[in-house]
This record gives sequence, C-alpha cells and structure tokens, in this order.
Amino acid sequence: MSDEIDTDAVPSTVLSGIRATGRLHFGNFMGAVRHFVEYQKPGIRSMYFIADLHTLTTLRDPEELRSNVLEITKDYLAAGLDPDQSVIYAQSSVPEIMELSLLLSMLQPVGQLQAIPTFKDKVRKQPNDVNLGLLSYPVLMAADILGPRATLVPVGEDQRPNVELARNLAERFNNRFGKLFTLPEMLLEMVKVPGLDGEKMGKSEADNAINLDAPIEDIRKRYLRLGITDPERIRASDPGDPFNRCRAVYPLHEMITLGEHDSREIATACQNATIGCVECKNRLVESIAVLIEPFQERRRELASQDALVREVLHEGGKKARQIITETTAIVRDKMGIVIY
Ligand code: TRP
Ligand code: SF4
Repeated sequence: MSDEIDTDAVPSTVLSGIRATGRLHFGNFMGAVRHFVEYQKPGIRSMYFIADLHTLTTLRDPEELRSNVLEITKDYLAAGLDPDQSVIYAQSSVPEIMELSLLLSMLQPVGQLQAIPTFKDKVRKQPNDVNLGLLSYPVLMAADILGPRATLVPVGEDQRPNVELARNLAERFNNRFGKLFTLPEMLLEMVKVPGLDGEKMGKSEADNAINLDAPIEDIRKRYLRLGITDPERIRASDPGDPFNRCRAVYPLHEMITLGEHDSREIATACQNATIGCVECKNRLVESIAVLIEPFQERRRELASQDALVREVLHEGGKKARQIITETTAIVRDKMGIVIY
C-alpha cells in the first residue's frame, strides 16, 4: 500500500506565501515579489499563495481579511505573477493543508515551538493574548511547504527558524515513515529593503514604508522629509559614508539604481561631497518611479476587477488542491489513518 514514491519525479517547486495583514508595500515588491516573478520559467513549478489562515492568528476583522486577500492578489498580479505560469491561491482554499498540519503536529515537540523568536516576541509583548494558532504557526507553515513538496522557499531572513522547522519535520517524517519529502531549501536572494527610517520596511512600528499606490511626488516628499541619510553629514561640504552611515537612501540605490556603475558613482560623489542628499534622494525617487509606474498602471486596471481576481483564486485553488491532496493522502496512509 504505502509504496515508496519516486521523489525525483516531482518537479523543482518554488513556493512562498504572504500573510494578508494589509496591502503590499515597496519593500515586499522589491525584496520578494519581484523575485517570485523571476521563478516563473519552464522546468520550475511556482506556487504563490495568500496565507489567510496564518493571518487569523492576529487579525480579527473578517471583512478586512476578505478584502485584504483580494487586494493582495491584485498586487501579485500587477507585479507580474501570471496565473498561466504560477499557481496562485488562497491557503484556505486547500483544506488539506489544515489536515496535513494536524498530522505533522504529532511529530512536533512543543518546546521547539516555544523557543522560536517570533513566538517568544509575541509572548513578551502580549502575554495575555497568546492563542494556540500562534504557537502552532510554524507547523501550519511546514504544511504549506511540504504539501506541494516544495524544494525552494524564497522568504526573508526572519523566516529562517520556520523553514528550519519545516526541514526538521520533513526529516523526522522520512525517518519514521519512509522517505517522502525532499528537504526544502531556503532561497537567499530575498533582500531586506530599508524603510525611510533605515529599519526593515514595513516591520518597525514607525510609519516607514512606501505605499505602492502612492503618486511619485508623494514618495519624493516622504524621502526628502523622512529618509534617513548619513547623520554626520551636516553641511553639504562634509564627506559622507554611504556604505556604513546612510541607512535609508544609499542601500536602496545599490539595489535598484540601474547598474553597479551608476550607484557606485553616487557613492563616490557622496564620499567626495560632490552630491548633496537632496539630489541623491531625487535620483533615488527616479529609480523607484521606473520600477513602480508600470505596476501602478496594471494595478489601476485591476482595481475594479474583483470577479476576475476571484476566478484566478478559484482556479489556482483547484490546481493547488490537486497537488497537495496527493501528498496528504500519502502522509495519512503512512501514519495509519484510513478514511472508511
Ligand atoms: N510566515 C510567512 C511570513 O510571515 C508567511 C508564510 C506562511 C509563508 N506560510 C508560508 C512563507 C510558507 C513561505 C512559505 O512572511
Ligand atoms: Fe546618503 Fe546620498 Fe546623502 Fe550620501 S548623498 S548621505 S548616499 S543620501
């Protein structure tokens, strides 16, 4: 019955998800979704989903959750995710993920979950509001990853403990019940995009993110007013240290201002005090505009197309379910569960 399956036959699968806590911002776009688009190519199965169940650990407003799922899907599509090339779905459209999560939870020591930094953080910040979903969050995430037997998981550095946990679960399952899973690798191309205050964009409590819908002139105003530069460059004639002390502007130039040459030229000009911070920020905003104007145009077209977006999620959900159901059935069977 529980035949060994040929894991080599499973295509290389890239998978990532995002919680539906709000719209995407420029940091998600630059650091994550742009890379997702690059994995849409022959020979790779790419799966991108909205982790609406994970969102329930912290978001309690059903109307807001429903709306966020549709809006984020529009952001995904406007950023270039293509339903003909990727499986785009809502996590909850595949109930088998929850089943797999329960089955995997039987192999998961509670102590390891309690030691995860993001969980400890929650306990410290809100000791009277720690639900079971927060503790089991990484197990549900392991089910997201192992369900489609993903091989590559592009996520930010902050997700490393969760991906490690998924790998450990996969290994424990294989050892106990026979090899089923290839261990998923974390993809390191994801970059941490600095927000206006120099902290990771979208992460700090401060309002440090660039909204993807913002008119370019608003983005310019925000950078000119709030973008943290080298604090030791008091006069325009003071040489700056773009690499170590300019936290919000230069690191972004390195990421997006076209070509190594252009951004290094800016660094040299900063070091020689031949460029001022205002001009430097203006050049940055031009680079941002080149990236987000095409996004904004597509996003405007999608704004009123809820029916189309629902259809994308419906079709994506069917495809994802087909893939994940197969794994869940094997896991169930190997663990001795029979549906009578
Ligand atoms: N925990 C991830 C985050 O907060 C979101 C997520 C849920 C995810 N399930 C996933 C990411 C599976 C990658 C793979 O960013
Ligand atoms: Fe930063 Fe540019 Fe000012 Fe140098 S000139 S400190 S790189 S903003």
